[in-house]
Parts: sequence; structure tokens; C-alpha cells
Amino acid sequence: MSLHELFALEELESGTARKVELEGHQISLVRIDDDVYAIGDICSHEDVSLSEGYVDTEDCLLECWRHGAMFDLKTGEPETLPAVRPVPTYDVSVVDGMIQILIAEGSEPPGAGRGSTWVRGDE
Ligand code: FES
Repeated sequence: MSLHELFALEELESGTARKVELEGHQISLVRIDDDVYAIGDICSHEDVSLSEGYVDTEDCLLECWRHGAMFDLKTGEPETLPAVRPVPTYDVSVVDGMIQILIAEGSEPPGAGRGSTWVRGDE
């Protein structure tokens, strides 16, 4: 396992998501109040960056901007179609005000080898 210290919690506004890349893992970090969640950044429906989507702070979900699938930030499971497969989740914590993520040793980056990723504005 490898532990990565990222940046201060206060640098991530509540209700927003930010993409980080660690050891080939593309991760969407989401802050809701003082809680931080980390799920795979690539939508399981198509190669789209979830961190460019919308955070539902009430239900703790991240909505894909492209087709609207909602992912549970605690489990990575899709709550709505068209996505049917979960995205990975990562152990994330805040220590002394700094966000830390644990990457499991030998874990394969999800989607490795897939094609390019859609970004907002690509159509
Ligand atoms: S690309 Fe995310 S729901 Fe279709």
C-alpha cells in the first residue's frame, strides 16, 4: 500500500470534485462539508471524467455530466442508469488538515488500456 498526502482540506470547496492522478489511478475527490470521498474518476458507462460532473451533497452522489448516471460516493455503485457497473472507491482520510489517500499495493488502475477520455466540451 502507498499513502499519498495531497493537499489541505480547505483547498477543496465543499460540494465540489477535483480529479487527481496517483500511480495511474484517476480519482475523483469530492468534499461534502468536512467529509471527503474518493472514487474512480472514469464513468463506468463511457470514458468520461466524473469530477467534471455535479455533486449531490444531500444524497452523497456524484452525477456524470454526460448522461446523468449518479454514483454513490461511499460505495462507487451507480444509483441510476445508464451506468450499471460500479467505479472503484479509495480509502481517504484527513490528517492534520491534509487529505490523504491510500492506494492498495498491486491494484490495477481501472480502465487501464482503454481509449481516450471524454472531457466536457468534446462532442
Ligand atoms: S458517460 Fe457517464 S453516464 Fe454516460
